[in-house]
Amino acid sequence: MAFTIGIPRETAPGETRVSMVPDVADQLLATYDDLDIVVEAGAGEHAYHDDADYEAAGCRVTDRDEVLQADVVTKVAPPDDEELDAFSDGQVLIGLLDPLGRAEAAQTLADAGVTALTMELVPRISRAQKMDALSAMSSIGGYRAAVRAADQLPKFFPLLTTAAGTVKPARVLVIGAGVAGLQAIATAKRLGAKVFGYDIREPTRKEVESLGAEFVELEVDIDADEDESGYAEKVEKEKIERQPELLKPHLAEADVVISTALIPGQPAPVLINEDAVAAMDPGSVIVDLAAANGGNCVHTEADETVVEDRVTIIGSTNLPAEMPVNASQLYSKTISAMIEEFLEDGAFTPNFDDDIFDGACLTHDGEIRNDRVRGLVEEADDEPETVSE
Ligand code: NAI
Repeated sequence: MAFTIGIPRETAPGETRVSMVPDVADQLLATYDDLDIVVEAGAGEHAYHDDADYEAAGCRVTDRDEVLQADVVTKVAPPDDEELDAFSDGQVLIGLLDPLGRAEAAQTLADAGVTALTMELVPRISRAQKMDALSAMSSIGGYRAAVRAADQLPKFFPLLTTAAGTVKPARVLVIGAGVAGLQAIATAKRLGAKVFGYDIREPTRKEVESLGAEFVELEVDIDADEDESGYAEKVEKEKIERQPELLKPHLAEADVVISTALIPGQPAPVLINEDAVAAMDPGSVIVDLAAANGGNCVHTEADETVVEDRVTIIGSTNLPAEMPVNASQLYSKTISAMIEEFLEDGAFTPNFDDDIFDGACLTHDGEIRNDRVRGLVEEADDEPETVSE
């Protein structure tokens, strides 16, 4: 019997990506004889892939109901209510399911008997690199953040020498040197800005510097009368506790701040306070990539651009959706790698002895497999119901 993959059209507002592009579908179809891929009409539209492109790749374009019944349904954004209702026992769902943000959806999927794999929980081990959708999307987010900042800034990024005088390069400070931050640094650098990078993790210094940026050192002034190891510890503690205040002079000198600081599963640390924004030059720009998690800047509003003290603060939560062609292409590769890893004899086969499957599996066989998500659901169940009068 044929095995089917279903590619629905994404319905989340502003979502332009598609979970599998025709080229990647084509490669899968060429690899597996008994595979059918069904695509909802218009699924690739916003990523510039027509239905005809999917048909040329060997997929069948059909209606939403049929796509949602496929053996494996691939998604970008978490399923909407209609999709959650449509799934049934034994189906596999793969996507960026926002497990910690939408724990109640995990319960619905578990109740329906769906095996849900969430790309956010793919472990960051070398064998799983080809399935690392988060890094692929963060890299796009970092690039886009730098480009958006350059577009918004009422100044040049590069140094310019003209007959009318010399223009100094823009100063760009990137906070958080993870995947998104490093790509933002590299992009701002290519655009000619003077770039500074900062991260709470000291080992990122090398990576920041290797991109030609300067690592920002927070300066603390504390008693130096302890032995060396105790002193270092005290300095680090002080730096963490007083971060917003210690960052302020560096923020004040920046024309652009791109902030990406995040601790997984927690609200983003607020590192840019009111005073820091007020101290920035009018016309400066902050792109807050942590907007979806509350933001690194106190003024950030998710999916809004706000102006405070004549500083523009961009809080886009889905920058990869602004680059749907590459975002869909890279995302599709991570999804197809996941499918290929666990396709065995024409069926998608759970393997809990495998770290990748075990890590990414959110629900299976009626259960929520992830402890943190299960904890969130139990917490919500324990909360007393609000009785309306
Ligand atoms: P990551 O986890 O690789 O990097 C986060 C970095 O922030 C780490 O290097 C960490 O050490 C650092 N950090 C944590 N707390 C800090 C603090 N208090 N001060 C300084 N640095 C601190 O994550 P990744 O993949 O680079 O993504 C970064 C952020 O950007 C995440 O919030 C992610 O959700 C978001 N993102 C947003 C997008 C958008 O469209 N808005 C697109 C892609 C990513």
